[in-house]
Amino acid sequence: MTLGELVKNPKGFKVVGIYRISRFEVKTARNGKSYGDCLISDNSFEVPAKYWDISGDSAILFQQNGILRLEAMLDYFKDSPQLTIVGGYLPSPVEIDQSLQSLGMMAPRKIDDMVSELTAIITSIKQEGLRDLLVAIFDTNKPFAEKFKRHPGAVKNHHAYIGGLLAHTLEVAAAALDHCNRNDRINRDILLAAALVHDIGKVREIEVDAFGMGIGFTREGKLLRHISLGMEMLEHACQEVGLAPELGLMLKHCILSHHGQAEWGSPVEPMLLEAELLHYLDNLSAKTEQFSREAGRAEPGGFNRSATLRREVYRPSLE
Ligand SMILES: [Fe+2]
Ligand SMILES: [Fe+2]
Repeated sequence: MTLGELVKNPKGFKVVGIYRISRFEVKTARNGKSYGDCLISDNSFEVPAKYWDISGDSAILFQQNGILRLEAMLDYFKDSPQLTIVGGYLPSPVEIDQSLQSLGMMAPRKIDDMVSELTAIITSIKQEGLRDLLVAIFDTNKPFAEKFKRHPGAVKNHHAYIGGLLAHTLEVAAAALDHCNRNDRINRDILLAAALVHDIGKVREIEVDAFGMGIGFTREGKLLRHISLGMEMLEHACQEVGLAPELGLMLKHCILSHHGQAEWGSPVEPMLLEAELLHYLDNLSAKTEQFSREAGRAEPGGFNRSATLRREVYRPSLE
């Protein structure tokens, strides 16, 4: 049963199912006993949960495993659903693998299919230097290529699942391609190359757990963030393939300005048509994912207050 379905039941409803432990902390209750304070999630909802009088062994099980089979009871705290956990067990590796999609931990598209699309886009780049650069980054550099195809797009904000970075990158590139097909004033090769490399720094910025889910920022991620890390990686690849300086400059400007303005993390505003478009296309992909996810957490015909979007999101009753 999904968490979205579970929370429609009355207090006392019992459930057994495989869920993601998004957050877990051992705390001390007023009676001096230890309890587990958790956040349980799947791709439909997230619910806070308490595991009262937790044993040392169970605490270790919850600390070390991001996915568990939970035996729990539905409760309400100040009208909001909350679970009381009765037991937690380790699912088999096969069960874990089969649950990744429903737990919102895996990209909706197959990773191999997305890699084929990435390769096709790179092959379609006509400017030889840019094509060589993209091959050097996404194909020849095997350690990077392996990480990139499974990396999450974020810890929380958008595309925060295995393969999310590749899914987001392809969404930006596909929307860019569509826009180029309708506007011959755009430098197609620059915009496509910029779309593909704009977030490569996230591979070094986001720290992942054993499953490949983002759990926070790495040390260099915190200190430098993905825009500067991506610049460093791009500069290295430009040197490696001997990219024409002006092309390198345009691509670097696109990476640097893709967040649009200083308060969103870009040291310069877009000063190039392709850079401006990249900023909007990046936002288009992010907002599409955020709105559909946040609306999915509301009842049909109801609103959900989204912390990420800082507003209420409406889910139409007609679906
Ligand atoms: Fe970014
Ligand atoms: Fe992005």
